[in-house]
Amino acid sequence: MKRTDNQIIVIFGGRGDLAMRKIVPALLALHRQGLMPAGYAVLATGRSKITDEAYREEIRNALKEPDNGDNGNDLSAFLSAFYYTDIDPSVSGDYNTLPDKLEMLRQKSGSRGNTLFYLSVPPELYRVIPRNLALQGLNNEGDGWKRMIIEKPFGYDYASAVALNKILLEHWNESQVYRIDHYLGKETVQNILVTRFSNGIFEPLWNRNYVHHVEITSSESLGVEMRGAYYEGAGALRDMIQNHLLHLVGFIAMEPPSSMDSTSIRNELVKVFDSLRPYKNKEISRMSIRGQYTSAHVRGEWQKGYREEDNVNPTSMTETFAALKLHIDNWRWGGVPFYIRTGKRLPTRVTEAVIHFKPTPHYLFSGENVCDGCNQLIIRIQPDEGILLKFGMKIPGAGFKVKNVNMDFHYSDLAVERIPDAYERLLYDCMNGDSTLYTRSDAVLAAWRFLDPVIKAWRNDHSVPLYGYPAGTWGPEHADDLIEEPELTWRYPCKNLADDGVYCEL
Ligand code: BG6
Repeated sequence: MKRTDNQIIVIFGGRGDLAMRKIVPALLALHRQGLMPAGYAVLATGRSKITDEAYREEIRNALKEPDNGDNGNDLSAFLSAFYYTDIDPSVSGDYNTLPDKLEMLRQKSGSRGNTLFYLSVPPELYRVIPRNLALQGLNNEGDGWKRMIIEKPFGYDYASAVALNKILLEHWNESQVYRIDHYLGKETVQNILVTRFSNGIFEPLWNRNYVHHVEITSSESLGVEMRGAYYEGAGALRDMIQNHLLHLVGFIAMEPPSSMDSTSIRNELVKVFDSLRPYKNKEISRMSIRGQYTSAHVRGEWQKGYREEDNVNPTSMTETFAALKLHIDNWRWGGVPFYIRTGKRLPTRVTEAVIHFKPTPHYLFSGENVCDGCNQLIIRIQPDEGILLKFGMKIPGAGFKVKNVNMDFHYSDLAVERIPDAYERLLYDCMNGDSTLYTRSDAVLAAWRFLDPVIKAWRNDHSVPLYGYPAGTWGPEHADDLIEEPELTWRYPCKNLADDGVYCEL
């Protein structure tokens, strides 16, 4: 493993939820694997005035680690690299002391000028912080590299994403900007590329000649929880589809890159996004479904409807469920529909892609021997991470009775102790200057460009209905109408990869 450059990591929003739940635990995991640089410091920023010690204590509490034995010592060593400074990110003058603070930490940690800025802040600050840093010369790479990680959402629609990009690139180079989509940090998402490109058996079938359709689901059983204010302005389309689900489409649909380097992979991803067939206004109500959860009893517990959640408008039109049918107009995928759906307060938390292969050209086994659900390859992103192939086998005995059987691989069988969290991989990559799993500006813009007509229609055209669906169900029943053939429906996955249907463990 390459030794990571000594560096300073600056976290804007250092006391926030994301920092405490994801960023700091990821740094701790890297520290425990010996993957942090020999010399480094973490400078967290926030509006309130607290001391370094108080901040370290907050982290200690958030990590909920036992504070004794080896673990305690290990944690104390880790915490000693953390510092805190108060900055109101929107006040330029507050940045004046930052260069000196960084210089002091550089000397302490022996890290030259290498600096990673992590913007874990509300999106309106993405326009402000990069400029203020640049005014202090902190974008200048003369004394060492400078990189900036930006959380989603990158923009609100195509026009706002273009504007944000322009502001950013006034002071920073594209190569310095790391737009994060945590789905790309998931092992199982990266494994799509390995499954496809390290095995000769899939490639010949991976195209319009053999694939009937592709289905991608990302369902969550939770509602919007404490994020009503953010979610009201986002909705499922912006929150999940514009980034996570379109990236899954990209990895499933892309051509083999010429090599596994960042530029080659990102070039292929953009080609997929550029090939998405633009929606015509008049077809949007046929090609998209939106829904919003309503109150219901779920497994014995009463769950609020979306409009009753905190910080949500009681007449809100924000969608908590979104499903789209899309086409990729290129030689590989011409004529193959992709169906994608996501929603909150669905029966279970599952993300998976299902490649539905075409049936045999002439089916020989009739009547009850039709093999329902055969010819499917299921790539399970989470939970019960793995891959499952469904096909028909003969039931022993007289005649030709066909049964749908499974051949499956579960990550848990690999006997690796754990699957690393996405943030671990992504932080490590950025610390090492590898942008492969970060989104390039052309890809972000292409994704927004594709979704813009849907965003506009859902906002302006009331002929596109917003269906209610009871919490704990699979979204509006109309979502089945997206799928062209009347006998086909979505797969209804369960917690366990091998199960599906109505009677499964959720
Ligand atoms: C985030 C969304 O990007 O992804 C959340 O903002 C969503 O609303 C989350 O819950 C889902 O991520 P995961 O890794 O739990 O599938």
